[in-house]
Amino acid sequence: MEKIANRVSTIKGSAIREIFKVLANGNIISFAGGAPDPALFPADLMSDLAAGILKNEGALALSYGITEGYNPLKEEIIKRLKRQNIISENDNFIITTGGQQVIDLAAKSLVNEFDKVVVEDPSFIGGLNSFRSYNAILIPAPVLDDGLDLDYLEEKILKKEKIKLLYTIPTFQNPSGITMSLEKRKNLLDLAEKYDFLILEDNPYGELRFMGEDIPTIKSLDKLGRVIYAGSLSKVLSPGLRIGFCAADKNILEKMIVCKQVSDVHTPVLNQMLAHRVLCSMDFDKHIQKAQKLYGEKCAHMLACMDKYFPQGVKYTRPEGGIFIWVDLKKDIDTKELLKVAVERGVAFVPGATCMVDIEKPSNKLRLNYSLSTFEQIEKGIKILAEIL
Ligand SMILES: Cc1ncc(COP(=O)(O)O)c(C=O)c1O
Repeated sequence: MEKIANRVSTIKGSAIREIFKVLANGNIISFAGGAPDPALFPADLMSDLAAGILKNEGALALSYGITEGYNPLKEEIIKRLKRQNIISENDNFIITTGGQQVIDLAAKSLVNEFDKVVVEDPSFIGGLNSFRSYNAILIPAPVLDDGLDLDYLEEKILKKEKIKLLYTIPTFQNPSGITMSLEKRKNLLDLAEKYDFLILEDNPYGELRFMGEDIPTIKSLDKLGRVIYAGSLSKVLSPGLRIGFCAADKNILEKMIVCKQVSDVHTPVLNQMLAHRVLCSMDFDKHIQKAQKLYGEKCAHMLACMDKYFPQGVKYTRPEGGIFIWVDLKKDIDTKELLKVAVERGVAFVPGATCMVDIEKPSNKLRLNYSLSTFEQIEKGIKILAEIL
């Protein structure tokens, strides 16, 4: 439509949202989602806490708050981030409306029209669309088994183009489940210094490791203030609360705060107070361990079913955490077309093209989520997918 701004005219509604519409209709086993298992939501506790907040501190909870966030929640999250060396002395910290808003604010405050932003290919559609909406030029860089292909990055991109920002999900990447090695994290920081660009590290899944050794975040290795860190309570507590956060160099975050004022003034105070009370009233580390255990079991079950039922030649990642497996069918199959057949048979997934910079190009990849389905649904759904394949 001619009245739509150029900035957003090329952005397509997410295929994932379209799938959700189909899912609402029936009895479909969905491997398309990206949310935590609702069985893990501490709903009873939160119901009591919310009632207490509204009863005793209603005036505070229902009024305007400050843009940077509700202080007690900030302090609680900062405490956790300090334990992981994620915050440095030169940093500032804000609460945002989901991790998604950090990406949007970073794009809004840093990226000029036609600035070049390097993204992993595949990547998270919400991140890609944020940059698209500010008319950034997205430059795709492949993801290997140990994360971003740094040789490609340097030889094919950095030596040729001046880039502003690199967006990465280094830990249990969405959609691939892949984790960037420590060596690559260090080398990426060196490249950022050598070629003078910023890194947006998006880490909503980092705490959901169920196997292997923790790897320090890129932010914790950064001594020069080049990394903007996006975190979220969505995958470890509740996505509906919309609590994200950002730690970044003071100068950068200052502008992001002004941009947040323009976007939504502040993240709802009631949600922030509730998140704070939850973090203080429960053993949150134990809660996360419960999630790690559950997702580890579900992931192992899905992989075992795939090993058993999928035709030979199909390749897939074996994540050590997070909630996604990335499947490469190897054959010349467009997974967008495959999805139509799968939905008719009662199974949904995310077609690979949705996660790529070039969304029009047919892709033989697909993303499977294992956090939301039951063990029975996982077996049944994988069997059906295997039959279709
Ligand atoms: C990689 C990544 N970043 C950010 C988000 C946004 O999450 P939220 O805004 O709920 O924190 C998601 C959600 O799926 C994601 O997968």
